[in-house]
Amino acid sequence: MDKAFITGITGQDGSYLADLLLSEGLEVYGLIRRKASASNWRIHHLAGHERMHLVNGDLMDVTSLTRSLQQIRPKYVFNLAAQSFVPFSWEAPEATSGVTAIGVLNMLEAVRMVDPAIRFYQASSSEMFGKVRETPQKRTTPFYPRSPYGVSKVYGHWMTINYRESYDMYACSGILFNHESERRGLEFVTRKVTWAAANIKRGKMESVSLGNLDAQRDWGYAPDYVQAMWLMLNREEPRDYVIATGEQSSVRELCDAAFSAVGLNYEDHVKIDPRFLRPAEVNTLLGDIGEAREQLSWQPATSFRDMITKMVEADLHRVDNNITWET
Ligand code: NAP
Ligand code: GDD
Repeated sequence: MDKAFITGITGQDGSYLADLLLSEGLEVYGLIRRKASASNWRIHHLAGHERMHLVNGDLMDVTSLTRSLQQIRPKYVFNLAAQSFVPFSWEAPEATSGVTAIGVLNMLEAVRMVDPAIRFYQASSSEMFGKVRETPQKRTTPFYPRSPYGVSKVYGHWMTINYRESYDMYACSGILFNHESERRGLEFVTRKVTWAAANIKRGKMESVSLGNLDAQRDWGYAPDYVQAMWLMLNREEPRDYVIATGEQSSVRELCDAAFSAVGLNYEDHVKIDPRFLRPAEVNTLLGDIGEAREQLSWQPATSFRDMITKMVEADLHRVDNNITWET
């Protein structure tokens, strides 16, 4: 039975990837770090699954990574762990660079030392395109990151390419554009808005404060995107891919979609608060998925509006059933 090791298992993507790999029959090992209050709600449903295992360690502790790989001997490593919230990366640039940049190097080194035949996936990001140099963005579009997070992702991306080229390792990156879901963290704008729409609909909140409503993103659905990660690690040759939808919406259109789903007008409930503006904004992102379509036979299955409707419905369910731990 093939084994997969996932860092970031408690996050949005890690939890969906675990679901997918278990359904594919793999033995799944997830790296967990120590936290003062660990709810790990995204993987609660996997507790007790006979092929699901949790391993203690930290991306900043290369010994824990090496020991884990030596004990598990996986065929695949998916490196999804990161400090992934862009605004926090200005507040804690060094900590962000630690896990999001050096953490990638730590994982690559552990793979190289234990078993360089392991197939390695790095979670690269459309934030690397930042102040975009061309539209739509392709694998070959030059990077111009606009935050400590984006700069860290560029480091991890090039380090992954460097290990592929230096050590002939099967190491590749998915350059994923924004992807969301019912399991998205509340601090990200989609979930912040769907959560607010559900609470306002039920009379538990009156308004929500946001920053830049004009920012445009290429938003897809996380369960579709973990499928692309799996396809990438099952090609004959390692190669990087842009994973996106090829369609764009603004934050304003997001608000419209979420509030319309509960029969409300967003203009009555959305306030602007300059505290949510960023020191340097990424105004627009739009991905070109030609290569993923042709070479991975991958394409997104869920539209932006359908995804936002699913997220609103999940948040209504949480509000109605007082499910406060899933936030
Ligand atoms: P997420 O929900 O924020 O999850 C991040 C994960 O990283 C969590 O499991 C977190 O564990 C773990 N982590 C953080 N620091 C760690 C450390 N020092 N050691 C071990 N684990 C650590 O992120 P996501 O949305 O699932 O994204 C997954 C990956 O894709 C990230 O690398 C992100 O930067 C990248 N990405 C995401 C998107 C997107 O739109 N979602 C797009 C492009 C790229 P705790 O539970 O302990 O905090
Ligand atoms: N979070 C947040 N909160 N964003 C807001 C708000 C707000 O109140 N108001 C407006 N926005 C705008 C942000 O300025 C940004 O332009 C856009 O909404 C999206 O913000 P986020 O949802 O926080 O995501 P992100 O694009 O910064 O980063 C996400 O996608 C990247 C891929 O492009 C994260 O998942 C990153 O980890 C990922 O790499």
